[in-house]
Amino acid sequence: MKIGMLTSGGDCQALNAAMRGVVKGLSHNVRDLEIYGFFDGYKGLIYGNYRLLTSSDFSGILTRGGTILGSSRQPFKLMKVPDENGLDKVQAMKSNYYKLNLDCLVILGGNGTQKTANLLREEGLNIIHLPKTIDNDIYGTDVTFGFYSAINIATDVIDCIHTTAASHNRVFIVEVMGHKVGWLTLYSGVASGADIILLPEIPYSPKSILKAIKAREEAGKGFTILAVAEGAISKEDSKLSKKELAKKLAKESHPTVSYKLANMITKETGIECRVTVPGHMQRGGSPCPYDRVLCSRLGSAAAGAIMEKKYGNMVAMVNGSTKLVPLEKVAGKLKTVDPKGQMVEEAKRMGISFGD
Ligand code: F6P
Repeated sequence: MKIGMLTSGGDCQALNAAMRGVVKGLSHNVRDLEIYGFFDGYKGLIYGNYRLLTSSDFSGILTRGGTILGSSRQPFKLMKVPDENGLDKVQAMKSNYYKLNLDCLVILGGNGTQKTANLLREEGLNIIHLPKTIDNDIYGTDVTFGFYSAINIATDVIDCIHTTAASHNRVFIVEVMGHKVGWLTLYSGVASGADIILLPEIPYSPKSILKAIKAREEAGKGFTILAVAEGAISKEDSKLSKKELAKKLAKESHPTVSYKLANMITKETGIECRVTVPGHMQRGGSPCPYDRVLCSRLGSAAAGAIMEKKYGNMVAMVNGSTKLVPLEKVAGKLKTVDPKGQMVEEAKRMGISFGD
């Protein structure tokens, strides 16, 4: 059996753990196994940059962050656009797949990666996709690997801010990754006891934020902590078209939404405000135990699907069970936080403000 494997898009802590799960699941059950690792995501598949790996390459990597194959961003919308030398990328990927006579290509990645995986499936390749991203925004799976490891890091950051915030009468903002969705901010915000949580799915009003800060002041609390998603947006801005918003943001001098909020808070309340942006730290380090288990299960389930030739699927986790979900049903869809969902309602009941 000949398997190709690649990791694409932004990395996360548990990519190696997931690849190890696939390879262990196959190598214990398939006699003549060849694994071709493509380097730097789809780039390796397009330009034929690969190496024949053995199962020992995947040994000892359960706890190692990053990806032994490297990764890169190859936007889906550019996949059908020839490269600077006129190379047809889709044809190039197909031709490398057929040249190596692969039985299947295992693709680990997030939303954009999944769209290209589905495109390759439509082109006739045998594909298995594994859902990776700290953003947890892949439709059709309850959880993606990387998410819980990133929650741990973002929570640690907010915990550290908590102790210093308690020493000063200040407002602190921690900006959490998550692209266009608020899962990571919601979970790390609740886990760390943030006072205000701002998510892209719940556009904020500056007035409500100020009201929440004032209420804490009046209650004798010396500080306020905001967990702000990098994609958080005001009610006013959420009404603009993509184009109008881009035009407006280009005129603003704030590097991110958190700095804009900090300026507004200090201007309106006179309280000093500090911003912390942990950024790519949230994708770094070792996968947490939850992710190690998740990746071992998803990886082993992927191996099972490959042995049964059940291609064209994402290996998902649904209600605690691994499940094969057809790529055509999920590619291009986003899983967002439900503003009226239980977790938001429960957080609100505990007095957490969502700035709405
Ligand atoms: O998708 C994962 C993610 O870390 C997002 O949370 C973030 O918006 C983005 O990637 C950052 O991308 P890059 O690594 O290309 O800066």
